[in-house]
Amino acid sequence: MSNVLRARRRLDLLQVVLFFVAVLLVVVADAGVTSQYRRKLEATVEMPLDADVFRVPPGYNAPQQVHITLGDQEGTAMIVSWVTANELGSSTVMYSEASPDPEKMELRAEGTHTRYDYFNYTSGFIHHCTLTNLKHSTKYYYAMGFGHTVRSFCFTTPPMPGPDVPFKFGLIGDLGQTFDSNTTLSHYEANGGDAVLYVGDLSYADNHPLHDNTRWDTWARFVERSAAHQPWVWTAGNHELDLAPELGEHVPFKPFAHRYPTPFWYSVRVASAHVVVLASYSAYGKYTAQWEWLRAELARVDRAATPWLIVLVHSPWYSSNGYHYMEGETMRVQFERWIVAAKADLVVAGHVHAYERSHRVSNVAYDIINARCTPVRTRDAPVYVTVGDGGNIEGIADNFTQPQPSYSAFREASFGHATLEIRNRTHAYYAWHRNQDGAKVVADGVWLTNRYWMPTDDDIN
Ligand SMILES: *[C@@H]1O[C@H](CO)[C@@H](O)[C@H](O)[C@H]1NC(C)=O
Ligand SMILES: *[C@@H]1O[C@H](CO)[C@@H](O)[C@H](O)[C@H]1NC(C)=O
Ligand SMILES: *[C@@H]1O[C@H](CO)[C@@H](O)[C@H](O)[C@H]1NC(C)=O
Ligand SMILES: *[C@@H]1O[C@H](CO)[C@@H](O)[C@H](O)[C@H]1NC(C)=O
Ligand SMILES: [Fe+2]
Repeated sequence: MSNVLRARRRLDLLQVVLFFVAVLLVVVADAGVTSQYRRKLEATVEMPLDADVFRVPPGYNAPQQVHITLGDQEGTAMIVSWVTANELGSSTVMYSEASPDPEKMELRAEGTHTRYDYFNYTSGFIHHCTLTNLKHSTKYYYAMGFGHTVRSFCFTTPPMPGPDVPFKFGLIGDLGQTFDSNTTLSHYEANGGDAVLYVGDLSYADNHPLHDNTRWDTWARFVERSAAHQPWVWTAGNHELDLAPELGEHVPFKPFAHRYPTPFWYSVRVASAHVVVLASYSAYGKYTAQWEWLRAELARVDRAATPWLIVLVHSPWYSSNGYHYMEGETMRVQFERWIVAAKADLVVAGHVHAYERSHRVSNVAYDIINARCTPVRTRDAPVYVTVGDGGNIEGIADNFTQPQPSYSAFREASFGHATLEIRNRTHAYYAWHRNQDGAKVVADGVWLTNRYWMPTDDDIN
C-alpha cells in the first residue's frame, strides 16, 4: 500500500471516529436544529392594489370581505361578517342545508351593522350576523346582499365536541398581503385544514401612510377565498392596535374591533380541542379582567370531553430570535405556571417573523430568592411554536440568538405555515410547511402525544 493510500485510510478512519464523536455529542447535548435552508432574501413585496386577490366583487353594493368565525363554544353557531361599500343594504343572511340557491334558502338570521372613521378614511358598512342552532358536521349554504347584489357561499360546521373526534387546524400568523402571503395561504388551502387558528397581525395597514385603512379592506378581500368557507379563530396582535395620537386616533383596536367580532380573550371548543385565546396587548396583570377570566377558564377545561388544550397568543413566551426578544416575558411570568399546571398541549404564537418549535420546557421554579431561573425539561409543559412567518411586508426575522438554547428544537428564518392534525385523544401530528417547498412537503414534523391522556416524552425530536 502506498503511503498516500495509507494516509487516506487514516483520514477515512479519522472521519469515521469524528463522525461518531459528533453523533455522541448530538445525543449528549440533544442540540436543536437551526436550519440553514437558504430562503430567498429579497424584500417582501406587497401585492398591488389592482392584484386579482383584491378585486371588488362585481355588482352594485355587492357584499365583500366575507369571513366567518365560531359563534359559540360548541360549534352550533357561526358569525358571518361582510362589508357593503355603496350603501347600507341588508344585514340579513339566508341559509340552508338543502339549497345552494339563495331564493330557496329557508333559514334566516338578522344581523347588525357598524362603521367607523379613521383620520380621513370612512369604512364601508360592516355587517355581523350570527347563525344559531346549526347542526354539527353539516354543510350549510348561505347568502347575503338581499335587495341588491346577492352572493352565496358555504361552510361545514365542526363536529360535535368529543374526546376522539379528529380535526385539522391550520396555524397561521402575521400574514399581511404580499406575494409571499398569497403563497402561504395557497399552501394552507392545498393542505386542506378545517379551520384556521390565526395568531394575530392581520393586514399590516398600519405600515402604510396614515394607517391607510383601505389595506384593511384589501386584506379581507384577499383572505375571503378561505375565511368565507371555514372559521378563522382570531387573536389580536400589535398591528391591530392602530393607535395614532398624531392622527387623532386614540382608541386602540378601532379598525380590528369593528371588523372582527370576537373578544380579545376567549375560548372555543372544536371537535376534541379546547382553544384558549389570549391577548398580548390587553392588561393581564393580577386582578385584571383577562387574569380573572383565564383562571376561571382553565378550571372549566374538561379533558375528558376535549382532550387537547391549545393556547393562542400573539407575542411568544419562548423565542430565541433576536427580533422582539423577550417581549412576551411579562405574560410568560404571569401565566406560564397556570398553563403548565393545566397540562396544556401546545402554545401557538406569532409576532416573530420566523419559525421555531420548542421542546417541552418550563421556567416556573424561580422565586425571588432561589436563583432557579433556567428553563428545564418538563413533561407537563406545552410545546411552544412560533409561526409569525406568514409573509408580511416587514420581511423575515433573520437574526437568531447564538448559540441555540437547549429548549429550542427547530428554528428557521423562512415563511410558511403549520398544521395540527388531531387524530384521537392521544395523538396529533404537528407539521410546519415552508413556502419554498411544495405545499405538502413537511419541513418540520412531530407526533405530539396528549399531556392529559398520554404524557410520553414525545419531544425528543
Ligand atoms: C394568489 O394565489 C392565487 C392562488 O394560488 C392565484 O390564483 C392568484 O393569481 C395569486 N395572486 C397574486 C397576485 O399572486
Ligand atoms: C387622506 O389624506 C391623504 C393625505 O392628505 C390623501 O392623500 C388621501 O387621498 C386622503 N384620503 C381621503 C379618503 O380623503
Ligand atoms: C440581533 O439580535 C441581537 C439579540 O437580541 C441584538 O442584540 C442585535 O442588535 C440584533 N441584530 C440585528 C441586526 O437586528
Ligand atoms: C390514535 O391515533 C394514533 C395515530 O394515528 C394511532 O397510532 C393510535 O392507535 C390511535 N389510538 C387509538 C386508541 O385509536
Ligand atoms: Fe406582531
